[in-house]
Amino acid sequence: MLKRMRIILFAGKGGVGKTSVSAATGLELARRGCRTLVMSVDPAHSLSDSFDLDRRLLDRSQGRLTRIRNNLWIQEVEIQEEIQRHWREVHGYISSLLNVSGLNEILAEELAIFPSMEEVSSLMYVNQYLRDNRFDVILLDCAPTGESLRFISMPTTLEWYMNKIFTVQRGVARMVRPMHSTFTSIPLPGDDYFANLESLYEKLRGVDRVLVDSNRTTVRLVTNPEKVVLRETQRAFMYFSLYGMTIDAVIVNRILPREVRDDFFAGWKNLHQRYVASVEDMFAPVPIWKLPLFDSEILGVRELDRLAKTLYGSRDPVGVHYHEAPYKFSKVNGTYQVRLKLPFADSEDVDLYQRFDELIVRVGSYKRHVALPQRLANRAPSSAKIQGSELVINFGKGMKDGQQTKASKQEAGA
Ligand SMILES: Nc1ncnc2c1ncn2[C@@H]1O[C@H](COP(=O)(O)OP(=O)(O)OP(=O)(O)O)[C@@H](O)[C@H]1O
Ligand SMILES: [Mg+2]
Repeated sequence: MLKRMRIILFAGKGGVGKTSVSAATGLELARRGCRTLVMSVDPAHSLSDSFDLDRRLLDRSQGRLTRIRNNLWIQEVEIQEEIQRHWREVHGYISSLLNVSGLNEILAEELAIFPSMEEVSSLMYVNQYLRDNRFDVILLDCAPTGESLRFISMPTTLEWYMNKIFTVQRGVARMVRPMHSTFTSIPLPGDDYFANLESLYEKLRGVDRVLVDSNRTTVRLVTNPEKVVLRETQRAFMYFSLYGMTIDAVIVNRILPREVRDDFFAGWKNLHQRYVASVEDMFAPVPIWKLPLFDSEILGVRELDRLAKTLYGSRDPVGVHYHEAPYKFSKVNGTYQVRLKLPFADSEDVDLYQRFDELIVRVGSYKRHVALPQRLANRAPSSAKIQGSELVINFGKGMKDGQQTKASKQEAGA
């Protein structure tokens, strides 16, 4: 049994196979003796369908835990009345607050964050189970990418608010309510808002640290070998990195298998092979796991088992397969910076090529495609230097797309 609860998020674009992979992983872990919960964070739940369960079983459970076999529970979070009541009171205020100021500067600029009740209540459950040590593993079957980013942004939002504003504001609200506008442009709510927010915060407190602890929480991005899907996976990769979360595998699902010989699919097979090859450029050194298109849909325990065996084989499904954040974004002394982990420390010239919101980095034979946040997409890399095992790229003022920058170790003064 594991000492501390492990959390794995399965995220990706709509329809790529998140629910199938989550359910299969759950079955495999339960079989290996881990107390496992597969929790659906997607309001359009399909976990029970994936396990091919009687829908009435889940309908009766009303969003609570349902044990479906030895060591295996599922939960499709519904909006709990209590939370709904709670949330109504707080929602208006948080929304207005988020319009006024925000978070980490890059994050706030990048995303309009309006966490929904499902996200908040799912995180409350996760935190509750963490505190109770209820499970060994929680697998989160996430909503398609956009919503799952709002989900993980929730604790950051609250944390930021509580730390930076709440303590000061509450005192200020009491003392100087009549003249608060001279102090700050942040709206001041009544005392009951603070009480509600405080209890909400208390229920979420600590979960943010667990989400960014790479020993406990990792993200597995599920994708398909298709251009549009891969583009979105790159962006998801960037966003999760922005939040400081660790991606420990990219799962390329639905690859046309070799056995398919029909002429009609020849072009598709070619395309898939090309895209599978390019996946390395996008995500290495994060492990890339491949799954074929099966000869039927993945429905019920037998099919899920087949998927789990193919995906994990001798791999440990609960292990952390990659620990480090492959890149980090920050703002240092007013300059935007990207830090990239290099597989080797010593190298010669660094070539940077920017195309729209993608930065292509070449160091010797090493090539990496980095999706950039909007904030950086219209800026030019101004310098690049190698520090230890990291490549540090600074961004200056705007430039035209397609511009090439050469920055060597020496030029950058490293
Ligand atoms: N490797 C595969 N081979 C064959 N069918 C697959 C494979 N992976 C997934 N499927 C099928 O594709 C469909 C979509 O899969 P799934 O529901 O797991 O995707 P999802 O990412 O959870 O979708 P959504 O974003 O709608 O929640 C399902 O019918 C599933 O059975
Ligand atoms: Mg799904």
